Amino acid sequence: MRFRRSGLNLTSADKLQIHSRSDVRTRRHIIQTRRGVLTVSQALIEYIPNQIWLNQYPVHFGGMDFYSRMTIIRLSNGSLLLHSPCNIDAQLKRAIDGIGPVAHIVAPGNFHHLHVASAQKRFPEAQTHICPGVEHKQPELDFDWFLGDRPPESWRDDIEQVLVRGTRFIWEVAFFHKPSGTLVLTDLVENIGGRTEGVGWGLKFWFKFVFRMWNKAKPAPEYQMGWKDKRAAARSLERILAWDFVRVVMAHGDLVETNAKAIVRDAWRSPLGFASDEMD
Ligand SMILES: [Fe+2]
Repeated sequence: MRFRRSGLNLTSADKLQIHSRSDVRTRRHIIQTRRGVLTVSQALIEYIPNQIWLNQYPVHFGGMDFYSRMTIIRLSNGSLLLHSPCNIDAQLKRAIDGIGPVAHIVAPGNFHHLHVASAQKRFPEAQTHICPGVEHKQPELDFDWFLGDRPPESWRDDIEQVLVRGTRFIWEVAFFHKPSGTLVLTDLVENIGGRTEGVGWGLKFWFKFVFRMWNKAKPAPEYQMGWKDKRAAARSLERILAWDFVRVVMAHGDLVETNAKAIVRDAWRSPLGFASDEMD
């Protein structure tokens, strides 16, 4: 994994301490560097040089504590796409401004839209794209476009996308950043376990003993609680698996950087297996 922070020059020792400790009870992720303590809202990590930046931030949902992740993609025309934005404070805005102009704000799933208004406020020139379903969750939200299977002309050269069908409780559009071979998901794969930072005991219990996904990449529990049409879902998932991705960035959990396609296919074994049985 490559780390480079925008706006700060970190020493090797500093870099080793990134993600070093967290205090989810106070909703603050703390990064200890030689220059002092930074909160996660300042931590914009350059993941793929000049192409992809990441920002993790703590969330509290359903009585559980864990982290979520914003992904920033720089398109080949130099403009930025904010995927699943976190709350954008003034300091983070300055860091993003240092990368490039924000042209697109993307709410990629119907569970990933809460901070879109915050991003719109900081970047009023940007266009907003939402996954179908977000308009019901946030009726007051202004947006420009619905996301679907066809990427808009503005990012067609860089990104492929699939609106995943056949789900019951949760909707999501998957993205493939072609230049870096990166699959960018929200909840279709969660990869949480003993090495994951910021996980509270409640989530650990559910993931370990109920959903059997502790240290095992799987779709979010909301997917596992019921597929509406596994065959339709499988068609969507097979389209994603046809992309030539080598790593996975997801909203929750540890990044997948080796055996990416095999891990994702295994994570989706249930809907994929059901569909292949049906089609035999
Ligand atoms: Fe999520």
